[in-house]
Amino acid sequence: MHSFSSRLIRWQRRHGRHDLPWQGQDAYRVWLSEIMLQQTQVATVISYYQRFIASFPNIAALAAATEDEVLAHWSGLGYYARGRNLHKAAQIIVEKHNGEFPREFEQILELPGIGRSTAAAICAQAYHESRAILDGNVKRLLARWCGIEGWAGNKKVEEKLWQQAEALMPRRNVATYTQALMDMGATVCTRGKPKCGECPVQTDCVARQTDRIAELPTPRPT
Ligand code: ADE
Repeated sequence: MHSFSSRLIRWQRRHGRHDLPWQGQDAYRVWLSEIMLQQTQVATVISYYQRFIASFPNIAALAAATEDEVLAHWSGLGYYARGRNLHKAAQIIVEKHNGEFPREFEQILELPGIGRSTAAAICAQAYHESRAILDGNVKRLLARWCGIEGWAGNKKVEEKLWQQAEALMPRRNVATYTQALMDMGATVCTRGKPKCGECPVQTDCVARQTDRIAELPTPRPT
């Protein structure tokens, strides 16, 4: 049996998204895409991303803009704190990192608006570092495939999910693998009516084997 990661990588090459404008781009562009994608779907993000890059083609241009100019480009995306943090982070990068997006995971994690999963998503996609991500889609996929019970808002449950995410991480093809996790979560291992028949890891999915697809991930306790 091929490993979890090799099956996801093969699935991504055949069925995943390859035409996203930030794929294969530099860390600035990957960072911007990840921030926009935190609470907004890909189909909506693409045109906002393209307008944003046209106006602010690099970190220096973003840092030099006024907050109002930046937020005007965010209008319609919502969650404006994301836009404010992005602008603040660009100014920090100019002051502290000579305008170059930082190369180290720990430096990236210090920037406003960037948590552990977003920093890892940037390092995996822009720098090809083997770093695990764990956003909402990946939590659902791993809770099912590993059969992890309990609400992911619980610290112990979240820690188990991180451990699995790291244990499954391949050393090669990390950008493709990272995109596979996100695309699988968005299109196959969906919240309602997942398409298990299309899933490349269905044969050893614990939730499927134990008939708990509908029960996992465990919802927030009421
Ligand atoms: N969500 C967060 N990052 C994403 C990406 N690169 N592609 C699709 N969905 C995402």
